[in-house]
Amino acid sequence: MQGRSLKKPWGGRFSQETDGLVEVFTQSVHCDVRLYKEDIKGSIVHCEMLMRQGIIRSEEGDKIIQALLEIEREIEEGAFIPDPALEDIHMNIEARLIEKVGPVGGKLHTARSRNDQVVLDERLYLREEVRAVVEGIRHLQKSLVVRAREHLDSLLPGFTHLQHAQPVRLAFYLLAYVEMLERDRERFMDSLKRVNVCPLGAGALAGTPLPIDRDWVAKKLGFPRVSPNAMDTVSDRDFILEFLANAAITMIHLSRMAEELVVWSSPEFSFVELPDSYCTGSSIMPQKKNPDVAELVRGKTGRAVGNLVSLLVVVKGLPLAYNRDLQEDKEALFDTVDTLKMSLRVMAGMYEKVYFKVQEMEKRAKEGFTNATDLADYLVKKGVPFRDAHKMVGELVAYALDKEEPLEDLPLEEMKMVCPMVEEDVYEILELRHGVDGRGSYGGTAKNQVEERLEVWEEQLKNA
Ligand code: ARG
Repeated sequence: MQGRSLKKPWGGRFSQETDGLVEVFTQSVHCDVRLYKEDIKGSIVHCEMLMRQGIIRSEEGDKIIQALLEIEREIEEGAFIPDPALEDIHMNIEARLIEKVGPVGGKLHTARSRNDQVVLDERLYLREEVRAVVEGIRHLQKSLVVRAREHLDSLLPGFTHLQHAQPVRLAFYLLAYVEMLERDRERFMDSLKRVNVCPLGAGALAGTPLPIDRDWVAKKLGFPRVSPNAMDTVSDRDFILEFLANAAITMIHLSRMAEELVVWSSPEFSFVELPDSYCTGSSIMPQKKNPDVAELVRGKTGRAVGNLVSLLVVVKGLPLAYNRDLQEDKEALFDTVDTLKMSLRVMAGMYEKVYFKVQEMEKRAKEGFTNATDLADYLVKKGVPFRDAHKMVGELVAYALDKEEPLEDLPLEEMKMVCPMVEEDVYEILELRHGVDGRGSYGGTAKNQVEERLEVWEEQLKNA
């Protein structure tokens, strides 16, 4: 008679069993089982609405809700193993419900389709995860700000093209990342208004003739808005794309920070000593201490970018409305959520414990003629046009390079040969701290500027 497909909620019109290979190929429960809590929460509210609207009787609804709560417990305790033949977590829960309460369980899916149910679960899930990501960003920002306070007066060379450019405070450096992360945080927060929209009630693609109350459902589930077009609702995945894009940008930022820690911990730089607890050794070279955690953050950025591209390609060219391709959204989403949250945590841990070799940094800050711009600005103050000053100082640098001496070690007479307007007061200008604290324009690296911004951050993160 009828085979396994009868077991399936949609088995009615089928006369052949689903091919075993097709079952394996089409199932998604191995991954969407993660949505079980959201699925049950959504189903309970849906059921309450059906009762309120008189679409199902309250004794029926009570039974369904009771059983749904039991199923939640069963899943939590590992007593309920989803069956891949039932494709996804949604049909697994429904089948278990009917198994528990009998045919009345079949009333739960009234005025609902898996198409709106899946998006509901994803939206409920994602809004919580966005909040968790934002917390993770806050935590990392806090770690950076604590270290910035500690290193307000530590100096290091600032780089452009990875060549010594101008000296900066270490606090300024670390706060640059705090600012970067703040834009990431804002992007996630902003995305919430598009995630937090209630899709339930869209049905398969066109709404339902039954007298449902979408506003009540939305309110009960804490959604400030209801989606206004059923077709758009079931085919929209841009709320996930947006999350994946925001996550990819954040991961790219983390990978830049990670790369810096890798480079800075090499003996060639020797700016930091990474904590042993965040490094690993080599199975062959006994002397090795490798910055694997930073390398993996850098490496896992590939996944985050890949997940974004993967879903973009899935959605590209899909006609309205729901298409099964959309089932492919989940792995990308879950993987990025996990990767991003973990990366934020390990980066925070690493910055909390990293040892900054400030003496080495300061020594290097003086190398590479990082005070050359200060000399040019000094000449500008004496009335020399900046372009001429630039040329003179360039010549003086070439001369000093030849002598293998820094600018500040050149005797005044020698400097005067190239820059005649230089006076004794030039030596003060050429001092490292003078250069750093001279850059007091808004957003500059001078102590007053950095300290002011640091205070703003300390205040903002106080209650984070
Ligand atoms: N497993 C599917 C998914 O996650 C559920 C939706 C199925 N809808 C359908 N009409 N086949 O996308």
